[in-house]
Amino acid sequence: MARCSFASGIPVCLFLGCLALAHAVTFEVKSGNTTCIKAEFSANFTISYNITNGTNTVNVQLPVSAVVGNLSSCGGNGSAPQLVALFGEGHSLSLVFSSDGQRYSVANLSLQYNLSDSRTFPQSTIKGIAISFTNAAGITAKRNTTYRCLSSSTLSLGSPQVNMTFSGVRLEAYMPSSNLSTEESVCSADQSATTASPTHAPTTTPTPSPVIPSNPDAGNYRVNNTNATACLLANMGLQLNITYFSKSQNKTVQSVVNVEPNRTSVSGLCEASTAVLLLDHELTNLSFTFSLNSTSKKYHLSSVNVSANWPDMREPFSTGNNTLQAMPGTLGRSYMCTPEQTLTVANSFSLNMFQVQVQPFGVQNNQFGSADVCPMQRDNMLVPIIVGACLAGLVVIVLIAYLIGRKRSHAGYQTI
Ligand SMILES: *[C@@H]1O[C@H](CO)[C@@H](O)[C@H](O)[C@H]1NC(C)=O
Ligand SMILES: *[C@@H]1O[C@H](CO)[C@@H](O)[C@H](O)[C@H]1NC(C)=O
Ligand SMILES: *[C@@H]1O[C@H](CO)[C@@H](O)[C@H](O)[C@H]1NC(C)=O
Ligand SMILES: *[C@@H]1O[C@H](CO)[C@@H](O)[C@H](O)[C@H]1NC(C)=O
Ligand SMILES: *[C@@H]1O[C@H](CO)[C@@H](O)[C@H](O)[C@H]1NC(C)=O
Ligand SMILES: *[C@@H]1O[C@H](CO)[C@@H](O)[C@H](O)[C@H]1NC(C)=O
Ligand SMILES: *[C@@H]1O[C@H](CO)[C@@H](O)[C@H](O)[C@H]1NC(C)=O
Ligand SMILES: *[C@@H]1O[C@H](CO)[C@@H](O)[C@H](O)[C@H]1NC(C)=O
Ligand SMILES: *[C@@H]1O[C@H](CO)[C@@H](O)[C@H](O)[C@H]1NC(C)=O
Ligand SMILES: *[C@@H]1O[C@H](CO)[C@@H](O)[C@H](O)[C@H]1NC(C)=O
Ligand SMILES: *[C@@H]1O[C@H](CO)[C@@H](O)[C@H](O)[C@H]1NC(C)=O
Ligand SMILES: *[C@@H]1O[C@H](CO)[C@@H](O)[C@H](O)[C@H]1NC(C)=O
Repeated sequence: MARCSFASGIPVCLFLGCLALAHAVTFEVKSGNTTCIKAEFSANFTISYNITNGTNTVNVQLPVSAVVGNLSSCGGNGSAPQLVALFGEGHSLSLVFSSDGQRYSVANLSLQYNLSDSRTFPQSTIKGIAISFTNAAGITAKRNTTYRCLSSSTLSLGSPQVNMTFSGVRLEAYMPSSNLSTEESVCSADQSATTASPTHAPTTTPTPSPVIPSNPDAGNYRVNNTNATACLLANMGLQLNITYFSKSQNKTVQSVVNVEPNRTSVSGLCEASTAVLLLDHELTNLSFTFSLNSTSKKYHLSSVNVSANWPDMREPFSTGNNTLQAMPGTLGRSYMCTPEQTLTVANSFSLNMFQVQVQPFGVQNNQFGSADVCPMQRDNMLVPIIVGACLAGLVVIVLIAYLIGRKRSHAGYQTI
């Protein structure tokens, strides 16, 4: 099942041209209890390889299922700290850091990819591992600060030819504490994006009206296995509530926007205990990660990440939460919640969800299993039941009263 993850990204990338499928992946390298490297970024690779009579080029995305590999280390004893992210069938991305005490940098950024993975590299004439690297990744920051580069930038790794596009980068090495430093070293691309905005953000831009839209339409989203059977089903209406700094209004605004199903492209992946739904709506990417506890056979929505790059945003917006405990369900069954629910993901982002039915695991015959109904809806269902019972009781009482009354008045009439 794990094999599905990498391969399933490929058709999506090929068909959608990897438009804006970027979604951030997070990594943490520890030595004992001490965190030394934290990194969050999206990465896409364009890889050329030889086929029988020419070359082929594929687009590969670093999947959310990428994990920190054993070769990662905090360094010491003459070795450098490094982050090695493993993904797919034997692929890895490594970042080796160095520092002169004042600054730290990525000294060697390399991609090792497995050309024997014929789903990713069909018809490759060469088999085995290929390595491309660069010693000029341009990632450098002051010590005790977080390197931030939300804008996307493309690096050329040496031959064999690989281009890598990075975006939404936040990372730090040689960390003084286990949290990313609040002080940031902002890359020049982000700086020009922000300093440029006042010059060409004149007051002519129409200010977005703070109107709350009507309830969103429910979308029917489906993620398939490689054999085109459904592995994740989600029917729901989504409304985004994003707080960002508006260029046109020169202040922080709250924007409530409906996800329109007919303008949303769907992708995702299904693994044994993780299922991911990716929704790509206009300039907004949403990812929903569901986790299954195979012991208890219970699943829940464990993480939501969003990134948006709207024209009115002073800087690209990106946030998420990997410790959610939402939409609890049972393996083989669906989770259902018809009333509106609000999921607070972060201070600057919440999701209003309507008419939700999801099933991230154990989908049979492309259909939802029977539903685990949310407590809110069970309470709502109780109200009509209680009201109904009361009404029925009232009818009975009235009827009895009427019958008694009739009998009495009848009797009274007779005595006169
Ligand atoms: C790690 O933390 C645990 C509990 O917080 C503590 O018992 C243990 O001694 C720590 N280990 C190291 C190597 O600091
Ligand atoms: C692909 O083939 C060309 C010759 O046709 C060769 O020069 C090149 O090194 C090969 N590339 C790889 C990655 O093997
Ligand atoms: C590549 O080679 C195959 C046979 O080996 C041939 O059928 C095909 O037309 C060739 N394609 C190109 C673009 O030359
Ligand atoms: C970074 O922070 C650590 C601990 O707070 C401190 O010891 C060190 O001197 C700092 N380094 C720099 C270059 O500021
Ligand atoms: C960079 O890392 C790759 C992969 O680990 C390695 O093959 C290459 O030799 C390294 N390059 C330098 C200059 O250290
Ligand atoms: C935005 O507001 C700040 C302070 O509120 C002000 O200094 C700045 O000039 C404003 N920029 C524009 C483009 O209006
Ligand atoms: C899944 O398969 C169904 C039926 O073959 C198809 O309509 C749908 O577009 C597929 N979904 C994705 C995300 O590829
Ligand atoms: C499709 O693939 C999934 C897992 O990849 C498997 O469980 C299922 O049985 C397959 N269905 C068919 C019809 O082959
Ligand atoms: C959007 O979020 C803000 C702050 O979290 C909240 O005050 C507001 O009511 C929300 N709006 C909607 C329509 O959910
Ligand atoms: C999408 O659906 C909305 C209403 O559901 C409709 O107003 C709009 O025209 C549709 N857009 C497209 C591109 O189909
Ligand atoms: C899975 O469920 C079991 C039984 O409820 C529990 O003991 C265990 O901690 C859970 N595992 C995780 C990773 O949450
Ligand atoms: C993530 O969600 C959990 C559960 O709702 C919440 O307790 C936590 O504060 C959230 N984290 C952030 C960074 O907002």
